[in-house]
Amino acid sequence: MIHLDHSMIINEGATRRCYRHPDDPGKCLKIEKRPGAANANELQAYRAVQNLLGDYLAQCDPELAVTNEGEALVCELVRDENGTISLSFGDFLRMGKKDATLRRQFLEFFDLIVRHKLCFYDFNPKNFVIQRTEDGLRLKYTDLKSFHKTKTAFALEKIPFSPPSN
Ligand SMILES: Nc1ncnc2c1ncn2[C@@H]1O[C@H](COP(=O)(O)OP(=O)(O)OP(=O)(O)O)[C@@H](O)[C@H]1O
Ligand SMILES: [Mg+2]
Repeated sequence: MIHLDHSMIINEGATRRCYRHPDDPGKCLKIEKRPGAANANELQAYRAVQNLLGDYLAQCDPELAVTNEGEALVCELVRDENGTISLSFGDFLRMGKKDATLRRQFLEFFDLIVRHKLCFYDFNPKNFVIQRTEDGLRLKYTDLKSFHKTKTAFALEKIPFSPPSN
């Protein structure tokens, strides 16, 4: 069993607390605040989309882990090149910075979502982290639990408007 305490919490959302892994600086553990299906849903979604969204995802271990705080989803902890834990896109936005590479990655990410008709309901800015690497910023989508495997994102070609003429 993995032993966690609250000093290891690195961040949290409405549903889960995110702990650093006590034995692996490259991993984090996500624990539900109230036991439910969030981690199981995210793992199922990860398996369904990992080959489609590839580098835009933080990798996840194939099985949930047992900890003293409950079952955990084990994920790659996204860190910048200097070792700092990467900022969420929400925090990045508050710094008022603009970045053309990041914009291109967002466009490609959403293009993949539409092209593969993937249905995610939650693209809030805290569900993305922005990794600083020596090659520039890299976008990672780190919360997949809103994925709906039987629904599909609406197909853009179904929108009943004429395409632009030029
Ligand atoms: N793999 C990761 N690497 C680095 N930071 C992460 C990672 N996953 C999550 N975080 C940080 O932890 C925060 C909370 O994570 P996450 O979105 O998974 O929690 P949640 O409670 O499920 O979210 P929600 O509020 O959308 O239900 C994120 O905003 C992000 O800053
Ligand atoms: Mg979240």
